[in-house]
This record gives sequence, structure tokens and C-alpha cells, in this order.
Amino acid sequence: MEKTELMAQIKEEVISLTSSPLCQERIKNGVFPVIGEGDHNASIMFIGEAPGRNEAATGRPFCGAAGRILNELLESAGIERSSVYITNIVKDRPPENRDPLPEEIEEYAPFLDRQIAIIQPTILATLGRFSMEYVMSRYGLAEKLAPISSLHGKVFKGVAPHGPVQVIPLYHPAVVIYGASKKDTLKEDFCVLKKLADIR
Ligand code: URA
Repeated sequence: MEKTELMAQIKEEVISLTSSPLCQERIKNGVFPVIGEGDHNASIMFIGEAPGRNEAATGRPFCGAAGRILNELLESAGIERSSVYITNIVKDRPPENRDPLPEEIEEYAPFLDRQIAIIQPTILATLGRFSMEYVMSRYGLAEKLAPISSLHGKVFKGVAPHGPVQVIPLYHPAVVIYGASKKDTLKEDFCVLKKLADIR
């Protein structure tokens, strides 16, 4: 099957999920799941946390306030948004933008694993603590886990079913909304990511 068809199948499965309370919320509120968007042959895959209000309203990842910051960071590093793939671990919006619960991550993460297997990126750029913890644990880097404050911007060699992957934990772009001081750190880390993508 083509990558686009495999992605469409994931979307159908998420739409018809009934087991998660987050799906019930989505149905009740008449909003959308957010599967992901971008190049299905991307070498960089960004993995955020969960959709916010704007994302659930449109079905697109990172299209609200955090998305505007992500766009600025991509631009500052010279990375085209259309050349990467952007998704989240949790595909439905948690109410009031609360942190995803462990059982929600457990429910939706198999979809993320399938997306990684379809796209076969060589770089997994995690946005925030939740995707960092999941991706590092899942892809052979559990023993390297530490607080994001000490791991951000560092590159780790992980192992995915499709082959080696480089994992680079990044702060979630929304940290800039709550404190502008992290923007410079994020910009530096995005430059590390760009260099990593260039030398491949
Ligand atoms: N925050 C995320 O983690 N993902 C989005 O898609 C939007 C905001």
C-alpha cells in the first residue's frame, strides 16, 4: 500500500476509536482528530504532545499559538515546514489543554509508531517532555532519560524497526508563550537539528 493510503487508514481508525474518553469529547464537541501533516518521505519528524483548541477545530497540528512559534523556529533555522512531517502522540484534544494522561498516551502511541514505520524518518525531533519520554523509552534510549532541561538540543542514537534514528529532544514551542527567555535556547537547538539534517 502507498504511504498516503496507510496514513488514511490510520486516520479512519482514529476517527472510529470509541475506547478513549477523548474520542467521546471529540464527538460531543464536533471537532477533529489531528493525525499529522507534511512530507510522507520526510527525514525529520516532529512529535508534539496533543492537539489544542485550534488544532482540534481544523484537524491540523500546530496551527495555533504554539504553531506560530514553531513556524518562526523553523524559519530561523532555514527548515521548510513542508519538508518535514509534524504530528503528536495523542491525536485527540485533552479537555482544557491539560497534560495527556499515561493511559491516553498508551492508547494513541501505537498510531504514532505506525506513522514512524510508514515515514521512516532518520531524525525524530520531540517537542516537549511527553513525546521525549515516550520516544526515548520506545526507541532504545530509556537509560538516557533525564529531565528535558538537561537533554534538549542533544542528539541520541536510537533504534527504530526501520533502522537507526537520531533523536533530538526539544522544548515544546509553547514554553515561549509562558516565558520568552526560552526562545533563544529553542533557536539554538533548531540550528543543531538543521545541521544534523544537512550532514546526512
Ligand atoms: N501543542 C502540541 O503539542 N501539538 C499541537 O498540535 C498543538 C499544540
